[in-house]
Amino acid sequence: MRRAGQADQGTRTQAWLEATLRERDAEMRRPPQAEAHEENPDRLNMKSILELVSAEQERQTLSLNLIASENYVSDYVRKVLGTVFTNKYAEGYPGKRWYGGCENTDLVEQHAIDLAKKLFNADHANVQPHSGTQANLAAYLTLIEPGDKVLAFKLDHGGHLSHGAAFNASGKFYKFIHYGVNRETGRIDMDEYKRLLKENPDIKLVVAGASSYPRGIDFETMGKLAHDQKALFMADIAHISGLVAAGEHQSPVPHADIVTMSTHKTIRGPRGGLALCTDKWAKKLDRAVFPGAQGGPLVHVIAAKAAMLEEALKPEFKTYIKRVIANAKALAKAFSERDAKRYRVLTGGTDNHMVMVDITGTGKNGKEVEDALGVHSIYINKNFIPFDPKPVTETSGIRVGTPMITTMGAVEADMPRIVDMIDKAIRGEKIEGVVHAFMRELAGRK
Ligand SMILES: Cc1ncc(COP(=O)(O)O)c(C=O)c1O
Repeated sequence: MRRAGQADQGTRTQAWLEATLRERDAEMRRPPQAEAHEENPDRLNMKSILELVSAEQERQTLSLNLIASENYVSDYVRKVLGTVFTNKYAEGYPGKRWYGGCENTDLVEQHAIDLAKKLFNADHANVQPHSGTQANLAAYLTLIEPGDKVLAFKLDHGGHLSHGAAFNASGKFYKFIHYGVNRETGRIDMDEYKRLLKENPDIKLVVAGASSYPRGIDFETMGKLAHDQKALFMADIAHISGLVAAGEHQSPVPHADIVTMSTHKTIRGPRGGLALCTDKWAKKLDRAVFPGAQGGPLVHVIAAKAAMLEEALKPEFKTYIKRVIANAKALAKAFSERDAKRYRVLTGGTDNHMVMVDITGTGKNGKEVEDALGVHSIYINKNFIPFDPKPVTETSGIRVGTPMITTMGAVEADMPRIVDMIDKAIRGEKIEGVVHAFMRELAGRK
């Protein structure tokens, strides 16, 4: 029986999944000589590009994808993405382009802008950033000058490279200082945040937002404290954009000067970025994206963002996000119940789509766990945990997310089974076929 509230888009993704499984079965029955490299006859030892696409489709279909920053887009988004809009040059903005022939492009970009404003209740939207990182660069170009001081969340506590890492453009052009989490609670240390603001009255911009932080972020309080000190405030909701869109996480929009995001994570769109701002910054932000940080927009991606936004405005998307969060909470509980010493769930649980787990108790580091799971087609990523004694190439933690398995139809009752597969794989037990069988079972649920 189809579960209550299963997203319409999930239905289409399941149709795709079922078709892939059928194709795969047919492929396995085909004699070996049928595996000709028609597209690439000169390179017999290498698969052709189209074969690699099929192989990737099969990998994505049959594996248990728990990477918190990935998702499966709907057939609608994929269809729009793979269109002739990729051929179009369109520097500029709707109605003000450097090239002719932009009448369809103008309509599709304006549609995406209107939908983004509506979905997030924002004054202004720019849908051209090529990624979340590009959106952040454009936000910095809009709000501050090179050499200005910026306060952001520490990379090794869950922040992002584009929030001032020394080897990122942000860290090269601006003076970043960082707040972190409280060692006891694992939550953003608001005392440290306030102290840094007070001790550094020259801070021009505060950045909130994280890559690997499983709890809600109080944008309202953080924004107010920044503004009280005459600093500007920017919220990067790359990970939680889907949760914010669905009203399942506090929205930063009324509290931030600029809000940036990726479009390919929880919001389930094409790879890309998006930025929102108040009227005050609209012109400057548009100029910062183009020509400040980028050249011609990726019109096919903008069209796919519009498709994503249409879907995110539907009630089914809210249901999907609620299930993503419920699954993440159930996953955190399942890890703790399995063995809280082997799997120490950071902060004791989650408010969003990810679970951060200290896996020191398994006797393996994050890299070893990532590899042990990958062998069985279970994908997670190794991750620093706050105050991690291990180097970034090893780490003491893993980050596990539920956006993809939820799109595939997994429910809370599946989470202990997933933890069982993970635990057995880490212990080196044989779980041959179990993951594939589980994915087939998900596809077969009606
Ligand atoms: C908080 C945060 N900001 C920005 C980004 C960058 O996103 P993109 O990969 O779209 O550049 C990420 C990616 O994980 C992120 O977690």
